[in-house]
Amino acid sequence: MAPGMVGPAGPSPSQFWSTPPCDAGRTTGPTDAFSLTRSPPRRVAAIPMQSPLISQKAARFTESVIRGMSIEARRYGAVNLAQGMPDFPAPAEVKAAACRAIEDDINQYAITWGAHELRRAIAEHADWYLGLKVDPETEITVTCGSTEAMLVTLLSLINPGDEVILTQPFYENYWPDCVLAGAEPRFVPLRPPHWRFDLDELAAAFNDRTKAIILCNPNNPTGTVFSREDLEAIGALCRKWNVIAVTDEIYEHIIYDGRPHVALAGLDGMWERSVTIGGMSKTYAVTGWRVGTILAPPNLTHAFRQVHDFVSIGAAAPLQEAGAVAYRLPRPYYDRLAADYQARRDRFCRVLRDVGFELEPPEGAYYVMAGIKPFGATDDVDFARHLVREIGVATVPGSSFFRDKDLGRSYVRFCFCKRDETLDLAASRLGRLEIAK
Ligand SMILES: Cc1ncc(COP(=O)(O)O)c(C=O)c1O
Repeated sequence: MAPGMVGPAGPSPSQFWSTPPCDAGRTTGPTDAFSLTRSPPRRVAAIPMQSPLISQKAARFTESVIRGMSIEARRYGAVNLAQGMPDFPAPAEVKAAACRAIEDDINQYAITWGAHELRRAIAEHADWYLGLKVDPETEITVTCGSTEAMLVTLLSLINPGDEVILTQPFYENYWPDCVLAGAEPRFVPLRPPHWRFDLDELAAAFNDRTKAIILCNPNNPTGTVFSREDLEAIGALCRKWNVIAVTDEIYEHIIYDGRPHVALAGLDGMWERSVTIGGMSKTYAVTGWRVGTILAPPNLTHAFRQVHDFVSIGAAAPLQEAGAVAYRLPRPYYDRLAADYQARRDRFCRVLRDVGFELEPPEGAYYVMAGIKPFGATDDVDFARHLVREIGVATVPGSSFFRDKDLGRSYVRFCFCKRDETLDLAASRLGRLEIAK
């Protein structure tokens, strides 16, 4: 057992060791493997990843760390603070609209780039919240979650040899998206404790081969909210190097302390070279519905719609009808959402600090990168494994958000998009951790 750690919360870990240890895949994959867990279910014959049957691209992937931790959480009965899934209900009127749509037999394919009424509602929302005048006929694509939106964007933009700038730590899908699209990622650090970029380092990442920069704002995993000045600086570099800015704004409404959310696409001269990605998952607590959005100028949207059509045809038709209701929820809904999340952030960060984690409270999104050095822990994966198996709380090891793994070794990421009862249970379990002497 690692120093400063105490014994099991539930059944003894030895009862579970018959399954492969959770970091078993770390040494077997390619140098850029994304995985914490490999663990194909026992007795299922897995095709070896080196098999000639498997493409070179697919062979570079292993199981998602975050989804792997969710599996571990179920296996050990741990509170799942790994994967960012709310455990509270979605708004009643949005659920009722989905039921109504099915009752009304909205059961066939919607228009491939999104149901008409949903696109109109998205445009209305973009107008009042982001200050963007978006034409629903030519500048919006509805996708199967923002996950598909990002992939479609890169598949539509990237040619062999193109580079894409990512900030590091990064949301774990971006690198595989680059691999699938054939882009070469270039990483710019966000530095702790406040997780901000250095403008000179950012500028140095741009060159003639740069096609796009992906910016997650508010940021997962760090909680950084980029200011207007940050975005102006990024915009200037994009214009200088003729680069597209792809912003993942899925947490646009989860933002604290009265900070404004600024859409990069709304800055002078940026709409023509911006792609704004969002979706219903986080704002309406419906991560399983898989409705995402891309806002972009008509020439880019035309390409996105074609690629999207071949990738997925379209998002679920009845849920798009419900989306039209969701995007038109009155503004107090959004104020309440942000206030509720701020209360969760304050409460949970206090707990983590009291237990001994080192952290800066996030400015937005619903994650916190927590420093584990006070527990004498030197390896994030060992520590996360201890937390899920013996303390009963699932987190994500910090290194999984970094290409340079060592930069993340002294962090784990918690999410706090949970009911008070869930966070209280996690708090009582975490209280069993001990600071290293
Ligand atoms: C930054 C970021 N982008 C995208 C997603 C996935 O969103 P969606 O459910 O719309 O595919 C997540 C989910 O956690 C996320 O954190």
